[in-house]
Formats: sequence, structure tokens, C-alpha cells
Amino acid sequence: MYNKNLVDDIMKILSVNNESNLPLHNPVFSGNEEKYLIDCVRSNFVSSVGEYVIKFEKMLVDYTGSKYAVVAVNGTAALQVSLQLAGVEENDEVLIPALSFIATANAVRYLNAIPHFLDVGYESLGIDPNDLDIYLSDFIEFHNGLARNKFTRRYIKAIVPMHTFGHPVDMDALCEVASKFRLTVVEDAAESLGSFYKNKHTGTFGKVSALSFNGNKIITTGGGGAILTDDDELARIAKHITTTAKIPHQWEYRHDMVGYNFRMPAINAALGCAQLEQLPQFVLNKRKLADYYKRKFSKIDGVSFFSEPEYAKSNYWLNVLLLDKENAGFRDNILEETNNAGIMTRPVWKLLNTLEMYQNYPAMPLTVSRDLEQRIINIPSSAYLAENL
Ligand SMILES: Cc1ncc(COP(=O)(O)O)c(C=O)c1O
Repeated sequence: MYNKNLVDDIMKILSVNNESNLPLHNPVFSGNEEKYLIDCVRSNFVSSVGEYVIKFEKMLVDYTGSKYAVVAVNGTAALQVSLQLAGVEENDEVLIPALSFIATANAVRYLNAIPHFLDVGYESLGIDPNDLDIYLSDFIEFHNGLARNKFTRRYIKAIVPMHTFGHPVDMDALCEVASKFRLTVVEDAAESLGSFYKNKHTGTFGKVSALSFNGNKIITTGGGGAILTDDDELARIAKHITTTAKIPHQWEYRHDMVGYNFRMPAINAALGCAQLEQLPQFVLNKRKLADYYKRKFSKIDGVSFFSEPEYAKSNYWLNVLLLDKENAGFRDNILEETNNAGIMTRPVWKLLNTLEMYQNYPAMPLTVSRDLEQRIINIPSSAYLAENL
């Protein structure tokens, strides 16, 4: 039976400021964007050499507290390089959440490595360290000092916590489990710029981590990403490998390894500088919008608003409405009614291990992920929506 009251209640709350067109996440360009872009064009340095690239990297370092930031063409490329720097090689297994955007798995496959899908937990919507510990105890053995899957005999080099919709995974607990099983942590922090775990920025716990500045993220460079690390040598290699591994020389073309053309152009970095200046305000606005949703949805039976874990201060990148189990069957009605009314809502990604190209890879029992897949609805989350609340 179709629950009309529930759908009406949801529509009322989502009609923030009575706006008729509510995208899921639009960027806000209300700072120095045009000024820096014009300046960048006039400088002639719009490509991978340019002041704005250096400036944007410095600003990222200052904001996140990471020792180094190396900007890249997008978050997927940043994650691929991060995994490579973490030592992932062909045929290694990499532990990733099944509930994630496709890029997390693709980055693993670009290195010809094998994604091994993990369940997530209800606290953060990301990897649950307690379940992980129990699961790994069952199938990891040590061989040549490295973790190996007892059943597939493949080495497991890295684990990739992803901070879902900006909500940080419990990183102290996760790093403890990773260290117990000798796994390198590579954070997929694509969604969590502006999110902190116990006052430390996400993306600064992994040996190497990736950020994204895609058009739908909390700040955007059009397309773009960054590699974060505290490791001097890895930062040097990150910069080298993303710039075709060219040895600096005034005129000679000499390259000492197979590198990538993954460097972020200065024109994108110029946009990034203007956006990053506004990030603290974006985070405030998004937290205010989340507060509004939390208050309103607490009065409605049948759904709840997903709030940040206690240990975290989240950027609330994409807000999450969680249908009660008995209402999961109405998800598609809600998606249809809201989208028809100009209120953009989305279901969560299909579990990665159910996609055709990822069906035959190892996976943990995915009980929580399957449940959440039926019940999550992402609702409009643009920072500007909070301005008149
Ligand atoms: C979890 C996750 N990982 C990786 C990416 C890849 O970032 P990009 O789109 O910049 O390549 C995204 C976002 O798009 C993402 O949400």
C-alpha cells in the first residue's frame, strides 16, 4: 500500500525556502572565482605549470593539515596513484567498501589489482572496524611478512575506507585493525573535504589519500582531485608520476618511468583557490541545512535523518534520509514524486559487487550494505539552501 501521508510530509520538508527547482548539489560561485580565472588567463599559464597550482596545493595543506598535497585531474586519478604509491601491484587484493561510488573499484582495477568488497556499518555508512576485525581474522594469513588471503593466495596490500557522503569512518579503530593485519590505509576522502575525525581532517590518516573536486563536491575545480600524504618521498613521487615522470630540465625531454599526464591545469586550480577560500562558510551552511532537516524529520514517523557519528564533525556533503525498514518499499514512489516535482533526490549507488564487471570478485557478507541500499535517499544538499533558513 502506498503511504501518501509519508510522501506528502517528505515533500513538504524538502521544499526548502519554497524553491521550485532543487538540484541535489549545485556549486556556489560567490567569491573570487571570476577574478582568479581572468588573472590566470591573462598570465598565459593556464596549463600544468602555473602559480595557481602551487597556491592551491599550499592552501590544501593549510586547510587539511596534511604535510603535502599534489593536485590531479580528478579524484579517480588521485586514488589510482595513491594506491600505486601504497604499493598495490597487479593481482594484489585491495579491501574496499561495496557501498561506494564506482571510482573506488575502478581505481583498483586500473592497476590490475583485485577489489575485495567489505560490508559497511550503520554508524558511519562506511567500513565498520569491529566487523572488519572479525572478518579478516578468518581469512588473512601472513606470508613473506605480508597479509595474504588464505583462500585466493593473493596478497592484500591496502584497505580503502571511504567517508560516505562526508561522514568519517572511525579512523582510530580502523587504523588499529589495519596495522594488526599489516595493511596500508589509503583513504578515499573524495566526499569528505571539510570533515574531521576527532579534530583531524579526513584524508590525513592514510599513508596516502585522495580528494575530489568534481562539480558535485563541496568545492569544485570543474574536475579535479588531490593526493594527500605526510611522506616526503611519496609526495615527491606523486608529483613526478602525475607529470609524465619528466626530469626537470630547461629543454630536454627525459622521463625516468612510465608516468601519467594527471596534473591539474592551473585554470582549474585558480577556480579551486577561490572555492577553498569559501570552504569554511560552505561547511557552516551545510551543517545548518543538516540541522534543519534533522529537526523537521524528527517529527515524521517512518523516516529518519542520518546524523554524523559522535566522534566526527561532518561536512554533510550529501544529506541522507533513511526510510524505516517497513517503508523501504516506498523508496521508488518517493524518488518519483520528488523528482517529478523538481526536487532532485537519488537512491544510493548499487552495491559495487552486483555490477556486471565486479560480480566475480571476493566479497564479505554484505548484510548492512544490502539493507542500506534499499533505504537510503539522498536529498537536496547545496550549501546555498541554508542561506535563508
Ligand atoms: C567515493 C568517491 N570516490 C572517488 C570519486 C572520484 O572522483 P572524481 O569524480 O573527481 O574522479 C568520487 C566522486 O566522484 C567519489 O564519490
